[in-house]
Amino acid sequence: MWDYTDKVMEHFHNPRNQGAITDKQEGEKVVTGEVGSIACGDALKLHLKIDEATQTIQDARFQTFGCASAIASSSALTELLKGRKVEEALKLTNKEIAASLGGLPEEKMHCSVMGQEALEAAIYTYQGIPLDTHDDEEGNLICRCFGITDTKIKRVIRDNNLISAEQVTNYVKAGGGCSSCLADIDDILFEIAAEREKGVEVATQVWTETNPPTATQTAPPTLTNLQKITLIQKVINDDIRPILAEDGGDLELFDIDGDLVKVQLKGACSGCASSTETLKLAIEATLKDLVSPLLRVESV
Ligand code: FES
Repeated sequence: MWDYTDKVMEHFHNPRNQGAITDKQEGEKVVTGEVGSIACGDALKLHLKIDEATQTIQDARFQTFGCASAIASSSALTELLKGRKVEEALKLTNKEIAASLGGLPEEKMHCSVMGQEALEAAIYTYQGIPLDTHDDEEGNLICRCFGITDTKIKRVIRDNNLISAEQVTNYVKAGGGCSSCLADIDDILFEIAAEREKGVEVATQVWTETNPPTATQTAPPTLTNLQKITLIQKVINDDIRPILAEDGGDLELFDIDGDLVKVQLKGACSGCASSTETLKLAIEATLKDLVSPLLRVESV
């Protein structure tokens, strides 16, 4: 039995927006993005209804064949999409989908990646961009068992700060068949680790009080207190609060004591039965990812 959050189970038992979109008015367009295959164990069709004048997603529905986390990820994705502008929706990451569920077991992160891919497929269809010219399909084929290119593997490693071939398998399945591509995946990980180190050197040189690091930059191995506080505040504002706001929640940074980050939950989060899970899985994991793996989060 997987260790799913309450939110995953809630979406699994009461999936939102299941089915196809059968109606549209003048000025609206319905498109579908389809990924996965039943042979691979998961498949997802994401349907979007877009208002052409405002470029806004009016409705999002899904049909899936998959496990509890595939259903929950698809359901959460449709909730995240309604009311978003098309260009904004295209920026949605698999990490945000997983975070909106309070996190997913790492072995199930491929479900969030599948949601993001279906979203891109639907929007590219809407924009008239042929899917076989999509970046992820270009590049060198690394995993023949699952048809995964190096471009796609690099993207998922960068987006999710992955560090092992096992994690890559969990996120995109590459390496999960005959295993013959694992050495190539290790080479890609090595290449990106070298890139990250380079990035750290640059960041260390330019970070100042008035020019703090961006949330997506890799943190240097040792942050000064001022750099750490600045980066924690920035990650909370840019990466965590927008996700909590999707559910009417919010949080404020209360204090930082060494590696202990004290926060106050606000709005829907303050009375939410799953707030402990939300804290541990979403907030702490994001801060560990983007600031320092030593950080712990406590609600005050
Ligand atoms: S080629 Fe990647 S698992 Fe077989």
